[in-house]
Parts: sequence; structure tokens; C-alpha cells
Amino acid sequence: MTDLSTTIADRTFSNCMMNAAGVRCADENDLNQLIASPAGAYVTKSATPNVREGNPEPRMKSLPGGCINSMGLPNHGLDYYLDFVLKDQAARPDKTNLLSIAGTTLEDNLAMLHKVADSDFNGFVELNLSCPNVPGKPQVGYDFDRVREILTQVFAFYDKPLGVKLPPYFDLVHFDQIAAVLNDFPLTFVNSINSVGNGLVIDPNAERVAIKLGGLGGIGGTFIKPTALANVRGLSLRLKPEIAIIGTGGVMNGTDVFEHILCGASMVQVGTQFGFEGTRIFKRLSKELSAIMAAKGYQSIDDFKGKLKTFDD
Ligand code: DHB
Repeated sequence: MTDLSTTIADRTFSNCMMNAAGVRCADENDLNQLIASPAGAYVTKSATPNVREGNPEPRMKSLPGGCINSMGLPNHGLDYYLDFVLKDQAARPDKTNLLSIAGTTLEDNLAMLHKVADSDFNGFVELNLSCPNVPGKPQVGYDFDRVREILTQVFAFYDKPLGVKLPPYFDLVHFDQIAAVLNDFPLTFVNSINSVGNGLVIDPNAERVAIKLGGLGGIGGTFIKPTALANVRGLSLRLKPEIAIIGTGGVMNGTDVFEHILCGASMVQVGTQFGFEGTRIFKRLSKELSAIMAAKGYQSIDDFKGKLKTFDD
């Protein structure tokens, strides 16, 4: 039997796959379905301090093999998600889950993190530095000085496990620069990548954009897998070993999960395709990954994690 479990810091997860923030994780019903599934953990919809309606509709469009969205952080507010994870933690104290936070200002992020710090929550916080869809608020992850400033202020008081969700980078200098910042902090993990921001999808019949806000939105699905793998691998080669990597982007099947782990991911998140299939995807992906591992004689993910070969090896 293959073992799909994984560890990050001192926590063990029964399965190395889970949902990606934003997709089917915005309310109790969604989250309870994730709890009932084989996913190794769940992450909650990125929270702002208060309830948020998000951007005008239509704000999502499915494409063959992917999607574009300009959701704009519609969510029930931090208290809703903190209450949910605290109740779940009391019921299942042996499980670790992720609480996603995405303030649109540093002050909002600090206020939310103070609330989490003062609570009994002992899971992982995923601090989202990469939402591409809030008008007037650029993706913080592209401003390296700002990331340093934010993490300096966060780690001045926050001493529970915390990771950051990063945008995709497209230049090797940027990999070096973000890694140099991240390596200066006691991060538990980084999650790479968020959607590829500000793509444009067009309806050629109507000769019109596919979604509101000028048609621009974050791209997910098969198109972004090469970018995701380059980012997971690029960070894996540069980050200090104490920082685990969660790989996200373009996961449709077990081979995609296998490739993310080869690039160095300890855990793999599924967004777009989870949106299409729902929680039954975790059974399918588990079967597909197990079959690949069995065929190669691998018993656990540590047998191949980060062991991608190049032509120079
Ligand atoms: C949204 C999209 C993202 O990619 C993200 O990281 C957070 C929020 C959104 O539009 O809701």
C-alpha cells in the first residue's frame, strides 16, 4: 500500500492533497464536505475583517481546462471562519487545518492576526499576499520591500505557525529576491502559486469580455501548470529547509500532483479542477497518485519529493 501522508513542521497530514483557498470553501457546508472527504486538510476562503460582497457578476467563467475569475474576496468575515476552525479543532484536536487571511491593508492583516493570536487556534495561518482581484490594491507579493515590512510587523508578535500564499514569478531575479526576503523569517510554509493575475478572456461571438471589471481576472487550470512547477521548483532550490512548500496550480490529475512533489512540494492544493469536480476529486487523485507511486516502487512521498532530475544530474 502506498502512503500518501505528509508532514509540515511538526504536523502530520493523512493525505498530501487539499483544496486551494477560494474554491468551494466559503461556508460551513463547503467546509464540512471537505472534512468528510479524503483531503488531508482544508483551507478556508480568504477572510477580510468584515463580510465582503466581492466584485460585480459575472465574475467567473469556466474555460476548457481552466477558468478566469475576478471574485474580489467575497467572504463571511474573519469571525465566521475563526469560529468554524475553533469548533473543528475542539472536535478533532489531532487535525491541522489552514485559516486563510487576506486583508486589503496591512492594518487589516495585523488586526486579524492579533485576533487569531489571542484565540486558541493552533492550526496554520495562510497569509494571502497575492489576491489579484481587488481594484486599487496591487498584489503585495510583487513588492519585495513591502513583503519584508509586512513580515517584520507580523512576526513581531505572531508566534504560531504561519505561511504566505505567493503570486507567480516569471523572472529568476525575482525568485532570488523573494527567497532572500522569506529566508529572513520563521515561516512554516510558502504556498506557490496563486492565480496568474490579470488575464483576459474574450467571448468572440459577442465580441465582448467574458467577465466584469474590464474582463481582467486571475487564471487557473492547465494553462498555469508550467508556471506553477517553475515556481515550486525555484523556491524549493532557494528557501531554507525549515520552510515547507505547498504546491498549487494546474492540478487536474495524479500526474500533476506527482510533478508538484517532484519539484519539492510537501503538500498540493487543488483549485480550479476541485471547483469543477467537488470533493470526489480527492478520491480520484489519491487513486491516480497511488498508482503512479506503486508502478515506480515508491512507498511514501519522501521517496521522490524534490528529487526532480535535470540533464546535468
Ligand atoms: C480572490 C482571488 C485570489 O486569487 C485570491 O488569492 C484571493 C481572493 C478573489 O478574487 O476573491
